[in-house]
Amino acid sequence: MLEDRFGRQFYYLRLSITEACNFRCQYCLPDGYQGPSHEHFLNLEEIRTLISGFAQLGTQKIRITGGEPSLRRDLSSVIDICRHTPGIKKVAMTTHGGRLAQNIASWHAAGLDQINVSIDSLDPRQFAAITGQDKLLHILKGIDMALEGGMKVKVNTVLLKDFSQHRLSRFLDWIRHTPVTLRFIELMQTGDHEAFFKQQHLSGIPLRTQLLEQGWKPLPRELDAGPAQEFSHPDYAGRIGLILPYSKDFCLSCNRLRVAANGNLHLCLFSEQGVSLRPFLQSSDPAELKGFLQEVMASKHATHHLNEGNTGATRHLAMLGG
Ligand code: GTP
Ligand code: 5AD
Ligand code: SF4
Repeated sequence: MLEDRFGRQFYYLRLSITEACNFRCQYCLPDGYQGPSHEHFLNLEEIRTLISGFAQLGTQKIRITGGEPSLRRDLSSVIDICRHTPGIKKVAMTTHGGRLAQNIASWHAAGLDQINVSIDSLDPRQFAAITGQDKLLHILKGIDMALEGGMKVKVNTVLLKDFSQHRLSRFLDWIRHTPVTLRFIELMQTGDHEAFFKQQHLSGIPLRTQLLEQGWKPLPRELDAGPAQEFSHPDYAGRIGLILPYSKDFCLSCNRLRVAANGNLHLCLFSEQGVSLRPFLQSSDPAELKGFLQEVMASKHATHHLNEGNTGATRHLAMLGG
């Protein structure tokens, strides 16, 4: 079992498989980012040893992230490795959804259980303005296909200053009959976007108050859950989640670790720098990796210190998969 000095246990690994992304979300990669080519990132054999070591230390859930993970041609093999590693119970992926409709059936067949997709607005023009890609209708079709296939789907909406009641009502109308979990995420400050953050950050607390007034009820949190507080309502097929990283006790329930596409372990999304796991991934036996992971847990900090302006070494969330 992986445990830190504060008694937090880690069941959940977020594995980034590429830094590249072909969307241009205003709050993440407004100028795009290719990053190094895919040969610089962990290969399938390194990923196999990595997942096996984490699983032997109690990891039950893997979330594949990027950049945009579907830009890697061997994505189905990554999913397959996760699915066939003893101890791994859930395989999830965070994607922009632009390649969902064409690929969801094969990803599902390879063993993917859950997807999280970013949709910042249900207005196609506004969506295109935020992401640089006119793909909303295509993404919605992919989501329908995933739901029809029996997959669990969550949708991510980053709260920005211009988030209006009109935009909220469109989302609420949608989840009345669509069984997705719609998560509103407070914008987090990253190294590259300090000015954007200062202009655009919106607290999610008033939204929380509004939802409670409208009859949304908080749900208990699962062992391998991410950071969202989830709510349900008897009149809605979907759920709502709130991710409020600036709230006081946000990090108390931290249960996840991150490995970047280059094989660096990050103990926190906003830690100073990663430490390379690559030297431990060159044999198929994860024994050394396990010993190292257990040792390094002692240096995980209690919190991200975002409230004091710390962004660690995180220039934008695509470099680490959020
Ligand atoms: P699941 O519960 O597994 O669906 O995970 P998730 O909600 O964490 O996954 P997703 O990749 O969709 O991330 C949603 C948002 O939560 C992104 O903005 C992430 O950066 C943010 N997030 C996830 N984990 C952490 C964390 O440990 N710290 C902070 N500050 N943000 C996080
Ligand atoms: N703050 C909060 N969420 C962000 N995302 C990307 N950048 C930020 C940020 N600075 C979200 C994306 C995606 C998820 C992985 O992270 O919308 O859904
Ligand atoms: Fe958008 Fe995600 Fe790509 Fe960032 S990594 S630009 S949030 S799709």
